[in-house]
Amino acid sequence: MRRFDVTLAGDITLDLVLYGLPEELPVERELLAAGMAMELGGSAAITAHNLARLGSRVGFIPQLADDPFTELCVNGLKAAGVDLSASVNPKPGIATGLTVLLQHEQVRRSLTCSGTISALRYEDLDLQYLAQARHFHLSSFYLQSGLQPDVPRLLAALRHEGVTTSMDTNDDPSGDWQGPIGESLQHLDILMPNEREACSLSGEADLEAAIEKLSAKVPLLVVKCGASGAIAVQNGRRYSAPGLAVHVVDMVGAGDTFNAGFLHAYVNGASVEKCLQMGNLCGAYSTTASGGTRAFCELERRGQFFKKHGSAYFDAAKPVTPVAQ
Ligand SMILES: Nc1ncnc2c1ncn2[C@@H]1O[C@H](COP(=O)(O)OP(=O)(O)OP(=O)(O)O)[C@@H](O)[C@H]1O
Ligand SMILES: [Mg+2]
Repeated sequence: MRRFDVTLAGDITLDLVLYGLPEELPVERELLAAGMAMELGGSAAITAHNLARLGSRVGFIPQLADDPFTELCVNGLKAAGVDLSASVNPKPGIATGLTVLLQHEQVRRSLTCSGTISALRYEDLDLQYLAQARHFHLSSFYLQSGLQPDVPRLLAALRHEGVTTSMDTNDDPSGDWQGPIGESLQHLDILMPNEREACSLSGEADLEAAIEKLSAKVPLLVVKCGASGAIAVQNGRRYSAPGLAVHVVDMVGAGDTFNAGFLHAYVNGASVEKCLQMGNLCGAYSTTASGGTRAFCELERRGQFFKKHGSAYFDAAKPVTPVAQ
């Protein structure tokens, strides 16, 4: 029996979300936001938090900083039951990563100051710790410039230890989509981009062409399509699950939370269909509160939401039923 269901290494940030903004943002003016939220952020941290809140045993290695933002994030992760015993100690002069999200009516602007995100390196990681899991997940391939060159050997080493692997590249701020992505794909069991990222990663403008190209390179491709749900391709067979109709507060971390739901089902041996449905259920639920983890701290409301929208999903897949916290 392995110590963890899922281990992760990666980004921990503070997300500062501003709501009720003017659609136009003229310079040199004092502009008002109607509301704000300060939340645990970072793609890996959100996935780790929400996986743990679903009942998975989670070990997470983030780069810490010696400032109050790290403290806030660490407290949130610990409250969810995430093991942080192999965290990387602060490095001089490096602050916690920060993302400022401007949530407009229809669209969102996202500004990240990298800090700890790019400071994590392969040499910092305790590979034995990460290998004590059934599954390893990596997020933010492009933001993690310190780790990126070594991602192929990290994935290969963990797979060699019998750990299955997944990656959500997230966006590439440079727009170049370079780095050792091709080599990384060779050591992946699951690739989990959104539709825009799938097109950029494959160099195809058309989503269908992107799906065809990427699904030939990984055993399981999962593409997230926002309110439309998600698509998966495994062994040439295609699966899809529609999105759920919800009242959206913001979509911050919806993809990371989708990953948590999908992987929670995956490590419990659920079918691809069930994994997709669990991903959709969790992704949709995360949009109903601010930031990426707030909804998963409201356990009673989550229970009601899952019951209302998800009974068909987890009736047939007992192991993915969320455990009592
Ligand atoms: N408006 C919505 N209504 C219902 N479900 C949604 C909505 N937005 C997102 N989801 C759910 O969350 C999943 C992930 O959303 P999305 O495609 O926006 O991922 P992403 O762009 O990777 O997100 P992130 O900003 O976290 O990286 C979707 O596949 C869907 O299941
Ligand atoms: Mg994403």
